[in-house]
Amino acid sequence: METIIISDTQNLQQAAQILQAGGLVASPTETVYGLCANALNEEAVKNIYKAKGRPSDNPLIVHIADLGMLQPLVTEISPIAETLMKHFWPGPMTLVFKANSLVPKVVTGGLDTVAVRFPSDPTITNLIKTSGLPLAAPSANTSGKPSPTNFARVYEDLNGKIDCIIEGGNSKYGVESTVIDTTGDIATILRPGGITFEMIEEVLGTVMMDPALGHKLKEGEVPKAPGMKYTHYAPNAEVIIVKGETSKVIAKINELTAMHRALGKKVGVMATDETLSYFIADTVLSVGTESDPTTIAAHLFEVLRQYDDAGMDLVYSLAFKTTGIGQAIMNRLEKSAGYHFIEA
Ligand code: TXA
Ligand code: MG
Repeated sequence: METIIISDTQNLQQAAQILQAGGLVASPTETVYGLCANALNEEAVKNIYKAKGRPSDNPLIVHIADLGMLQPLVTEISPIAETLMKHFWPGPMTLVFKANSLVPKVVTGGLDTVAVRFPSDPTITNLIKTSGLPLAAPSANTSGKPSPTNFARVYEDLNGKIDCIIEGGNSKYGVESTVIDTTGDIATILRPGGITFEMIEEVLGTVMMDPALGHKLKEGEVPKAPGMKYTHYAPNAEVIIVKGETSKVIAKINELTAMHRALGKKVGVMATDETLSYFIADTVLSVGTESDPTTIAAHLFEVLRQYDDAGMDLVYSLAFKTTGIGQAIMNRLEKSAGYHFIEA
């Protein structure tokens, strides 16, 4: 298949027509790039799963560009949802509602709920408005790999497999939206993201984390967001997180690096601006500055992919603070490491 490339500064009419005809279009969003199809067209949505190699029980997020598009998709909007929508839409927040039967099962993964997001990025909102369609869109990467936060990575994974890619700049947040279940008495975070626990707590007073978050799932444990059970965000290199006091972590990583290099392994280190100069590995990259964790979120997935470009076998990463956006950063990093930690 030939993939058409359109710049985000061009007219999006052609991309909109592709969507109306049941095709697939990758678009920038403020979180990560998304792979879009008409959410109400079952065949089109099936092709998303094929292009990504994604398990079909993992439901998709439906993207809208005005509040009027929500009503037909859901059967109920709880007061919790109303409050969250008022404060955080448009933006990096996905809400789970009771689904209307209009939404195909292929979108909901067979659940009786549907996840909906109203993004703020002008390109995807323009695409939704020009096509007049709600768009189902997972991250525009091969399933399992780190999500794409720039055009080059979408092209690498999906060129030749989808109809069109819209080329824009780097994603602002770099981690996917916060997914929140609004169908119960208390809002529950199913996946941490750009809208943080603290921000939600401030407007709602109470918020819970899904108990399945923060650890490797046990035999038989079922997370409410089915996507959280799959291997995710993982480069080919094995990622290991080293925790502890900074000076000890640096010494430990350098000790392990020397040991593995002596065995012929190529070793990468994920450092920060503050620690970059202390490491001896083959590929030492800074993911951002500790003084501004939003920079770490913005670069995390791209930097993880760069260790594969450089052919690393192993990557040691620092652990990051888990407050604010740090919760989303550590959630993605833990998953990319398969929950492999070392204490320094
Ligand atoms: O920022 C984002 O959310 C990006 C951009 C493209 O919008 N999209 C994204 O989609 O991250 P995806 O498919 O990679 O992740 C969707 C997550 C999965 O963990 C999935 O299990 C969960 O949302 N999800 C979708 N529908 C759900 C539902 N009805 N109930 C619970 N979780 C749901
Ligand atoms: Mg994804």
